[in-house]
Amino acid sequence: MPPMGWSSWNAFQCNISSQLIRDTADAMVSSGMRDAGYEYVNIDDCWLTNTRSDGQPQFTQQFADGGIPAIAEYVHERGLKLGIYSDRGAFTCAGRVGSRGFETEDARLYASWGVDYLKYDNGDYLDVNNMAGGHNLNEGVMREQHGRMAAAVASSGRPIVFSLSAWAFYEWAVPFSNLWRTTGDITDSWASISGIINSSGNRLAAYAAPNHWNDPDMLQVGNGGLNLTESRAHFGMWAMMSAPLISGNDLRSMNQETTDLLVNREVIAIDQDPLGLQGVRVSQSGMTSVWAKPLGAFGARAVALLNQGEGQQNITFSLADVGLQNQAATLRDLWEGRDLGTTNANGQFSTMVPAHGMLLLRVVGVEPDLPGAGQIDVSRLDPIYAANALGPLERNRSVGGAAGGDGQPIAIRGATFDTGLGVAAGSLIVYRLGSRCTRFQAVAGIDDQANGSATVAFEVWGDNQKLFQSDIVNRNSAALPIDVDVTGVFRLKLKVTNGLDDANQDFASWGDARLVCAAAG
Ligand code: GLA
Repeated sequence: MPPMGWSSWNAFQCNISSQLIRDTADAMVSSGMRDAGYEYVNIDDCWLTNTRSDGQPQFTQQFADGGIPAIAEYVHERGLKLGIYSDRGAFTCAGRVGSRGFETEDARLYASWGVDYLKYDNGDYLDVNNMAGGHNLNEGVMREQHGRMAAAVASSGRPIVFSLSAWAFYEWAVPFSNLWRTTGDITDSWASISGIINSSGNRLAAYAAPNHWNDPDMLQVGNGGLNLTESRAHFGMWAMMSAPLISGNDLRSMNQETTDLLVNREVIAIDQDPLGLQGVRVSQSGMTSVWAKPLGAFGARAVALLNQGEGQQNITFSLADVGLQNQAATLRDLWEGRDLGTTNANGQFSTMVPAHGMLLLRVVGVEPDLPGAGQIDVSRLDPIYAANALGPLERNRSVGGAAGGDGQPIAIRGATFDTGLGVAAGSLIVYRLGSRCTRFQAVAGIDDQANGSATVAFEVWGDNQKLFQSDIVNRNSAALPIDVDVTGVFRLKLKVTNGLDDANQDFASWGDARLVCAAAG
């Protein structure tokens, strides 16, 4: 599940020492954070000097008393894990030594020290000698350098979480990273939090999966720039987005309000839910929006009513919005720890949400019906989850743009299909099969609605197992017949990735999508 812990950067930048890290580990225990699930104590930039000696990185004076091995031991004794930081370049962002050219040696060294987590940053400078000329953000170079360290870490002999920091999303990072930064650096302000929510939301949700998470950056809770309402919205939205919960404040001196917020178990449980789906925005009106995240328990959804605007707003959601049947569902306010009764006779719930605030609910209702027996047209089933980079999932149409119903009849290389699903990559659509079906069939391809340079790849998953993977296809590729055994599958996941180019016109279609199912046994 998404890693939880603390990092030194947001509150301390380069003002760090081995004593600070030890004291933070102690505070993680005494505050109750460890018992609430926080695990990693992460040292960010500045634990090294700016030169190597005999090829070895050198600890700063502040870490000279035993260096990382001694801290690792201290942290491990307290039932916690240790994270450190390096860079794909010769120098880190703060001008300390990076791992460029020393990837294998450094990864082995970290493993021998007992390191459990590596954040690998993006500071490579165009001029490797004097940090001039800005960062080298050539995509091929980034991919090669980050990939080299990921491989070195994977063969270091110790399980080490690989946290990639390339300051933007790159699809090539997904297979070799446990988490990957989706944005530039977060700051301690509502504007920064709100901007990250907008840019990291539905566009990338499809890529989240157990052991692979979008990282919208470390938390700013407790650093002084956000009021309680904003802090709850920040933390609560990170939980909705299945983000790593890496606190970034001074744990030694935090007040009760901050502690209570960070250890709220009901909110943490949303982030850590075993289904591992990333919550998506299911409706939007001006500055307000409704977000839904399916949870592992039957009929359970986390639902966020978010107000990014400046005045309080009434926000309504309906059970249909969150993929539940229209039968009364119970509601619980997770920040207040209070039951709120049930949805109304229309299957809706409305409430006032303050400026920069969110209501975070756990909703328990009734899942969509399982498919019946025979040949089932998938477009007639209600998905429990639909992540789409652009617009909603379209039934029997292609995606045309951001609005619902704006596409055309599904068409792949001139052949039209009466039924099917229209999506925009990255896309992940999830259906409950309840182990009733034996085959999933479709004819997949880039829809004729997409622009000329569109590329995608199709995947079919049964629960957490990949059952089918296509090559990357483009507008000229022949339509792809798919016929997959889904015997025993509880949740069918139809995924479309963007073919490595992160284009936003990657409109793809699952033409004539159907299931072959048997009656309930
Ligand atoms: C970059 C990263 C930050 C932090 C600093 C350290 O800006 O994005 O998260 O690690 O470098 O110098």
